[in-house]
Amino acid sequence: MTTHLNQTIPLTFTSPEFFKNPYPFYDNLRSIHPIYWGNLLKYPGWYVTGYDEAVAILRDTRFKNRIPLPQTSKKYEHLKNIQNDMLLFKNQPDHKRLRLLVSNVFTPKMVEYHRSYIQETVNDLLDRVQNKKRMDIVSDFAFPLASLIIANILGVPREERYQFGEWTASLIQSIDFTRSRQELVNGNVTIVKLQAYFKGLFKKRKCHPQDDLISMLMKEEQQGDKLTEEELLATCILLVIAGHETTVNLISNSILALLNNFVQLLMLKENPLHIENAVEEFLRYESPTQMIARLASEDIEMNQMTIKKGEQVYILLGAANRDPKKFVDPHLLNIMRNPNPHLAFGYGSHFCLGAPLARLEARIAIQTLLQRTHNLQLVTPDLQWRNLIGFRSLRELQITFD
Ligand code: HEM
Repeated sequence: MTTHLNQTIPLTFTSPEFFKNPYPFYDNLRSIHPIYWGNLLKYPGWYVTGYDEAVAILRDTRFKNRIPLPQTSKKYEHLKNIQNDMLLFKNQPDHKRLRLLVSNVFTPKMVEYHRSYIQETVNDLLDRVQNKKRMDIVSDFAFPLASLIIANILGVPREERYQFGEWTASLIQSIDFTRSRQELVNGNVTIVKLQAYFKGLFKKRKCHPQDDLISMLMKEEQQGDKLTEEELLATCILLVIAGHETTVNLISNSILALLNNFVQLLMLKENPLHIENAVEEFLRYESPTQMIARLASEDIEMNQMTIKKGEQVYILLGAANRDPKKFVDPHLLNIMRNPNPHLAFGYGSHFCLGAPLARLEARIAIQTLLQRTHNLQLVTPDLQWRNLIGFRSLRELQITFD
């Protein structure tokens, strides 16, 4: 089965080289087998790097989503309980019910309604750095943007929106595969704060409904079925977690990809109408979510192998999106690539509910930045990526401009 195995690349997720550039490692795994059995994380499992194999697993309901936490520990009780009620970790039939209730109100049309607020917020963040001619794309632009937008959609009052950034920063560490016990404990503490905050907001919205997602979710009813208070809480927290960090990464990774591919940057600057296509390519090229997981609920035959009941399956979306069997020149950024059936938002029944929002935010942010600035230059010579496996996340991205 081994074809082009590169013996010089260690088969480990924790080397500094991996965090800098995971793609040679993914290619190496794929060349051994697109579904590779290994003990690369704390637990053994199947590592899926092939595109077709990833799709086959994600469309097969015998592979279940599960809460990625030890079920016995009291130390992360709140984190575990809240995840229990999140639609991301539900399977059929519960998943279908919850997803219907949420997707009936969190629609592309509702997202479109926020277009002018997104544009206004992007303009405002760029106004703040206009005279400095320098900014950190992560902390000055992408992070506050994603945080302000999701807070606005949920109906968090303006003056309380910055608090969100601090909470979500601590949560992302606790949901990544590399998390330490301490990070889980920190995540647990943040969940308690978020729960208390949202419960207070629910009380206010119950008496005085507004034109916001929380009020809409509270009202939403399907044939007499409604979200329970726990489900409402879990949904709000899921939207904050799922929708924040990933969007920050998409915007930052896109700008970096353009800075490293100057011809593509010029092409996009001269032809702003290519932005929709370009964002799809950024999603493929440096996928914000790199890895998701499933559990086999029975023995499953696949590619002449048996994935046994109870075994973990790690789907490396960032690797599938660079599978040469699916994408021509997968390691090249090509903003004109079309078709581009990437898996950055997942596939199948759990396909990302926030994809319309993430796309809209990224298109407006990147296009406006390119229109308003000239001579964009990378300042940070040695880029620091966060030591996460599930997400592709820059610590900072310092740039200058005229
Ligand atoms: C670039 C940004 C984003 C990326 C790359 C991304 C990626 C993903 C992926 C890969 C999944 C599937 C997980 C799985 O199958 O295990 C997912 C699910 C989900 N995402 Fe996103 N996401 C992004 C933005 C957002 C935003 C902005 C929101 C909402 C505010 C959001 C809400 C959700 C929800 C609720 C689910 C669960 C859907 C379900 O289980 O049925 N995401 N996302």
